[in-house]
Amino acid sequence: MSDKKPVIVYGASGYTGRLVCEYLREYGVPFIAAGRDAARVQEVMDKLPGIETADYEVAEVAHEVGALTELFKGAKVVCNMVGPFMHYGNEVVQAALAAGVDYLDTTGEQDWVLKCKEEYGAQFAEKGLMIGPNIAQMFTNGEIAANIALETPGTNTLDMLVMWKGLPTIASTQSIFSTLMADWFYLENNQYVPWDINATWDTPVPGQHENAKTMPWGGTANPIWFKDDPRVINCKVIGAVNNRAIMDTVIATKTMVVDEIRPLPPKEQEAALAQIASQAQAQMPPRERTMENTSLDSVYATGPMARSHVVLHGTCNYKQTGLLQAYIAMCLLQQRPNKLGFASACHAFNYRDILGQMQAFGLMMKPIVTVHD
Ligand SMILES: NC(=O)c1ccc[n+]([C@@H]2O[C@H](COP(=O)([O-])OP(=O)(O)OC[C@H]3O[C@@H](n4cnc5c(N)ncnc54)[C@H](OP(=O)(O)O)[C@@H]3O)[C@@H](O)[C@H]2O)c1
Repeated sequence: MSDKKPVIVYGASGYTGRLVCEYLREYGVPFIAAGRDAARVQEVMDKLPGIETADYEVAEVAHEVGALTELFKGAKVVCNMVGPFMHYGNEVVQAALAAGVDYLDTTGEQDWVLKCKEEYGAQFAEKGLMIGPNIAQMFTNGEIAANIALETPGTNTLDMLVMWKGLPTIASTQSIFSTLMADWFYLENNQYVPWDINATWDTPVPGQHENAKTMPWGGTANPIWFKDDPRVINCKVIGAVNNRAIMDTVIATKTMVVDEIRPLPPKEQEAALAQIASQAQAQMPPRERTMENTSLDSVYATGPMARSHVVLHGTCNYKQTGLLQAYIAMCLLQQRPNKLGFASACHAFNYRDILGQMQAFGLMMKPIVTVHD
């Protein structure tokens, strides 16, 4: 039997990676905190409250398939936190496949989720492994809310809103700009349909009187998660930071990037995006505050004769992501997921159990559910 610790957190020095480590400690799961610079990872680990009671070690690894494969061999699950995933994800996925470990990541990039499905899903399934991109606040919370809404029989259409308050991290900012180079899709009659990337709305938000300024927010992963679900034929997701002034800036910046950077050749796009991302967010944001960094997911599930509405209020978006990664990794150590190959958190394990973990750690309220059938 391998004495390798079963979970590898790759990108443990980052804002989200360290939170995954914190929640693995909460669950008592041994892990390797890995990154491109062991000293930086150790420095971060040393500051985590209670980390002296965790069973962990630190590893330095180069970002290439061979070195990553060596590190992953003998482990069971890799939680990949090195994004944007369209730039850095392939090496990690290929190493997970070569080493025979389940793969999880936190991506919010719809194009990366599609790539995981189409390019890697069958290969993971053949090896009895799971590839689960996008196990994260955005967009697992919405997926949980949608599954609760779909408990009302006769619904087939998901109309979803995802909102959050707070500053994005450095890699999140890079990832948001990276998605502006891709097409974004929603699901209509079970086909992917491209969004108008410039669409915006004034959207009523459950529980507040001020409308939000919203946009398609990269399409999100949910149209892909629900594509092969026989209960669902339509799925649209819109999103926003829950602050109109910030959204005015986000939309103005998006328009500028789409008009001026998207037409450039790929190499020039990359350089221009890196520059604009570093201007937008050059520093790691402060640790989240429960009173400030709230999340809101609202899902209408409708059909001709049935309607339901589910609202999930939560807090500390990045902590939610840390918990989701740690919980799904822990589940994978104990049993095979309900679906092998390409699978979401809710395909793999029970959505009410996942929500229960968020509630247990004080990160999510009990869902507000309204049903008309
Ligand atoms: N969907 C969601 O709700 C959600 C939530 C959280 C995070 N995310 C995504 O998760 C990703 C990570 O976010 P974060 O908050 O942890 O960002 P972050 O604080 O900027 O951390 C990025 C991590 O990636 C590492 N890294 C960057 N470039 C690398 C490279 N070339 N080779 C190897 N490692 C590299 C960094 O290592 P160094 O310390 O050595 O620089 C760091 O560990 C982003 O893509 C973000 O969008 C999504």
